[in-house]
Amino acid sequence: MSVNLQKSIVLVGMMGCGKSAVGSRLAMKLEVPFVDIDYEIEKNEGMPIAEIFKEKGEPHFRNLEKTTISDILSTRICVIATGGGAFINEETRALIKEKARSVYIQADFEVLLERVSRKNTRPLLEGGDKAAILRDLMEKRCPIYEKADIMVDSSSGAHNVVVDKIIEGLGI
Ligand code: S3P
Repeated sequence: MSVNLQKSIVLVGMMGCGKSAVGSRLAMKLEVPFVDIDYEIEKNEGMPIAEIFKEKGEPHFRNLEKTTISDILSTRICVIATGGGAFINEETRALIKEKARSVYIQADFEVLLERVSRKNTRPLLEGGDKAAILRDLMEKRCPIYEKADIMVDSSSGAHNVVVDKIIEGLGI
């Protein structure tokens, strides 16, 4: 479907909620480019996220997240998948709220835990009890994700169902 998007669409939500999988499908359907911020950062820095956290620290990563999102929002109209912490940063959130339409992809704890347990690439979940860390992050972050323009549940449906809910929710 060819649409004339006035603003980029930014997907936010917890690790494992499906931002990248849904985002790439949404972009394909809307015929606009898809940008995955974690991938952009890894490409620009020439190292995986886990290594950036280890070598340069989380504050440095959060800064990279903010500048990368800012650059992309000011140069193109696209669908953007953010990392789970991006929208939690006040400045990054303000930027997204001002320049894009934001979508919170919600998923239940059990669904997220099952999905994040498949990989060990997420530094925030390493070195401790994944379930406890995830629960704690959800408690702190979910009220903030709710500041997004719309919220879409992804716990049960297939990715394409979530895509359709976003299109409907944003009135595209
Ligand atoms: C993070 C989520 C990750 C990645 C980094 C930090 C977070 O992205 O940006 O490990 O703070 O929740 P995903 O949400 O794509 O896993």
